[in-house]
Amino acid sequence: MTGFIADRLLLFGATGDLAKRMLLPSLAALDADGLLDPKLEIVGTARSELDDQAFRNFAREALEKFLPGDRRGSTATFLNRLGYQALDASALDGYAELAAKVGTPAQGLAIFLSTAPSLFEATIHGLAHGGLTGANVRIGLEKPLGTDLESSRVINDAVATAFPEESTFRIDHYLGKETVQNLLALRFANILFEPLWNAAHIDHVQITVAETVGLEGRVGFYDDVGALRDMVQNHMLQLLSLVAMEPPAMFDATAVRDEKVKVLRSLRLSSPDETVTGQYRAGAIAGQAVPGYDEELGKPSDTETFVAIKAHIDNWRWKGVPFYLRTGKRLPKRTTEIIVQFRRVPHSIFAGKGARSEPNRLVIGVQPDENISLSLMAKVPGLDRGGIRLRPVPLDIAMPNAFAGTQRRIAYERLLLDLIEGDQTLFVRRDEVEAQWDWVDAIRASWDEHGLVPKSYTAGSWGPSAAIALAERDGVTWHE
Ligand code: BG6
Repeated sequence: MTGFIADRLLLFGATGDLAKRMLLPSLAALDADGLLDPKLEIVGTARSELDDQAFRNFAREALEKFLPGDRRGSTATFLNRLGYQALDASALDGYAELAAKVGTPAQGLAIFLSTAPSLFEATIHGLAHGGLTGANVRIGLEKPLGTDLESSRVINDAVATAFPEESTFRIDHYLGKETVQNLLALRFANILFEPLWNAAHIDHVQITVAETVGLEGRVGFYDDVGALRDMVQNHMLQLLSLVAMEPPAMFDATAVRDEKVKVLRSLRLSSPDETVTGQYRAGAIAGQAVPGYDEELGKPSDTETFVAIKAHIDNWRWKGVPFYLRTGKRLPKRTTEIIVQFRRVPHSIFAGKGARSEPNRLVIGVQPDENISLSLMAKVPGLDRGGIRLRPVPLDIAMPNAFAGTQRRIAYERLLLDLIEGDQTLFVRRDEVEAQWDWVDAIRASWDEHGLVPKSYTAGSWGPSAAIALAERDGVTWHE
């Protein structure tokens, strides 16, 4: 942790969807638990012409809708922290007034940008113009940070004119998820796994981020982006880097991010036949009919809503261990899972007794269920007159049960608190973002070169059959 604890928070995009669903509820929940500095004042800004009271009403409605009742506490104190200043972020002249509204913080200011990336540059200029930069100001940036390496560099360069890297907090909300952080505890707070965590003992890794939702009204945004840039470039590559990284010397921002970036830079370009893209057509999810992507969009499109990739990390630890990644919209269930498939025992002493042995498998459920399950082989009880029978049994830890009574938190609670307090460990450094884009851009370029277009899949299925074939031709079955 460096520097100051902010006593002012300035939220751009304060009337937007993210603010409504996540940011305001997370801040209110932190407040209810006494985790916000009593002096913290929060100023929202957006284009809508609201006054303080109207913004507080907006926030109250958001809390009623999106914050579970048991976390709400007395929202009056939270609402009293809120102020609002309307702003056209693209015009310089409003920033002086915004600065006046923010006032002079006693300790420091944290800014959170949750606006269209097209506004980032103008906003940074405006902040500099209004004097809302300097040693006691830090900035949080919500994705998407560009649509490719080049555009992300333009954004990062613009940010860097006013905010040094140590004041820049790039958000990947997956890093705020409890089980994602727990992955580090599992790997580095136990002696058991690390000696086996390599190509000699691991056969492959699977990472699935499946969603049941479709476009969710994000028509304009999503069609220019697609699953590769929306989910793989950020969340999935962050998960991959946490699974694959070398042990950092300590849990701090530099050590952890140094190790992650090494993994990201070791990613080899997957060939076109190692990637499958898909787009959902009409189908049903949980018995409910849902329209196809182009119907939701209102026009035909070549944007992928599903992608599966066989990824490779070219380093000593992971040589020859494929990382199968898949993500998609309108899949049968919402689930984020990491599967670490170990190799078979080198020799089965039970083979002569007719017993079949399965390799161990570690399943890390990130959401909706937070659990860790390790399959172990065990002998089926009995006298074994007809031969020994072995069966995998799970060593199962359901996190909510293991930590009953401990508050489960929204990912943004953690991230907002870290932004306010200045801890960058769970934020993405510029070199990581650029390494992520580098790989993703190369994949897109190879799709274009080979004229790859998404295959259609029925909403409610696990994507195009080619995605199943992608794993099966290696003798691998996706975990479902
Ligand atoms: C966002 C993507 O970053 O993550 C969305 O833009 C996606 O398309 C969302 O739905 C998924 O987040 P979560 O936390 O619901 O898994």
